[in-house]
Amino acid sequence: MGNKFVIIGAGSTHTPGILAALTAKADEIKMSELCLHDIEYDRVYHMGEFNRIYMSEHRPDIKTSWTTDLKEALTGADYVFIQIRPGRNEQRAVDEHTCYKHGLIGQETCGLGGFAFALRTIPAILEIVKTALEVCPNAWLLNYSNPEAMVSEAVYRTYPQAKMLCICDMPISQQEQVAAYLGYDEKDLTFKYFGLNHFGWYTNIYNKKGEDLLPQLREDVLSGKVTGLSASQDAGKLDDYWFKTFNNVIKGFKAYPDFMPLCYLQYYYFHDEMMEQFDHEFTRADSVLAGREITVYQECKRVIETQSAKDSYLISGVHGNYIVDLASSIINDKRERFIVNVMNNGAIGNFNHDAVVEVPCYVGASGVEPVAVGYIPQFHKSLMEAQKGYEKLAVEACLEGSYDKALQAILLNKTVPSYRKGKEVLDDFLELNKDYWNPKFYK
Ligand code: G6P
Ligand code: MN
Repeated sequence: MGNKFVIIGAGSTHTPGILAALTAKADEIKMSELCLHDIEYDRVYHMGEFNRIYMSEHRPDIKTSWTTDLKEALTGADYVFIQIRPGRNEQRAVDEHTCYKHGLIGQETCGLGGFAFALRTIPAILEIVKTALEVCPNAWLLNYSNPEAMVSEAVYRTYPQAKMLCICDMPISQQEQVAAYLGYDEKDLTFKYFGLNHFGWYTNIYNKKGEDLLPQLREDVLSGKVTGLSASQDAGKLDDYWFKTFNNVIKGFKAYPDFMPLCYLQYYYFHDEMMEQFDHEFTRADSVLAGREITVYQECKRVIETQSAKDSYLISGVHGNYIVDLASSIINDKRERFIVNVMNNGAIGNFNHDAVVEVPCYVGASGVEPVAVGYIPQFHKSLMEAQKGYEKLAVEACLEGSYDKALQAILLNKTVPSYRKGKEVLDDFLELNKDYWNPKFYK
């Protein structure tokens, strides 16, 4: 018997890239069945039919199905990919515009955009994990759903028994860009890294000879030889937003040259400059809504109308490959190295052991083995402590429906300058998230 794979939140426009990666590695991962699930009928119908037609042409031996029934999807599942977005990109746009109205960054995971999104996603994810524990307790649950920092903190705490790994494609994507600059294949380099999701740093980059290439990269940055990173390695990150974002890696490295920052630190190092640099009338979510959300569904419709996916090509990029490679490492006990969000448990010696951190791990049939990072410097530790305090309080606010904790969480976020601003945004958010947030907020 092969493996049944399930994609929860299959209405995401990232689904085709995952389908491509799953299909390319179908034998390696022993995939015999693939079920797509979403709570929205219209979206899962389009993705599900697209998948059925595509698979019937490429891998007719693989059984396909789609459904809006969670239990049905999870029955018999071996590997479950979760990538939900309650409120879709429409609500992401609402978060961004609401924050901007008050002069703050409303990015979907950093700043307060991530706060609103976390309070929508966590209850939905917990319901999915609970159901999976009942229906397919031996299945591996691999989660991409954002904001991953707070989702992982909520799930690992609530269901420590779940075989769930929370991952992000940003480190691998940035590593691809850096490897290209250094003239290496990413697979031939070992990146040492620590932090929180969308909040981490690279400390060393070793080649196969054991030489650390990070000092040279630092010199190139400080001398002005390199001013940006090309995103040409990742087909999903070729537009102006990512161009600026990858350039801000170099800017952040120059500003604080100890370690190379993950690109998302741009929102914390340079909050005021980000407010100047990006278009806040037409935000990132607006651009996703006007672009990918339309083109991906147009393509699904075309394939369904013609009942043929022969001339439809799916871009299997970094995003799809990373989650499939992770599954493959478990299935084939490869013990390959991935950056995963795990309970710290001492991996970072001088950081809260009872907190989720993002560190390299070796992954195989027995699960994850985090790499010991050792002790981290005061600067990074303190930034992480404030951010972790925000994340933990945000999770508590979400689970308890506590306004007081929400207000405390918000002030701990580095993008929030004051009580007044934080409260204004929180009060707007409460009004705009009535359909999603813990009902206790509204009693
Ligand atoms: C990266 C991050 C993801 C995030 C995505 C947003 O891949 O790691 O966590 O969801 O960017 O991309 P988008 O094109 O939707 O802005
Ligand atoms: Mn991510």
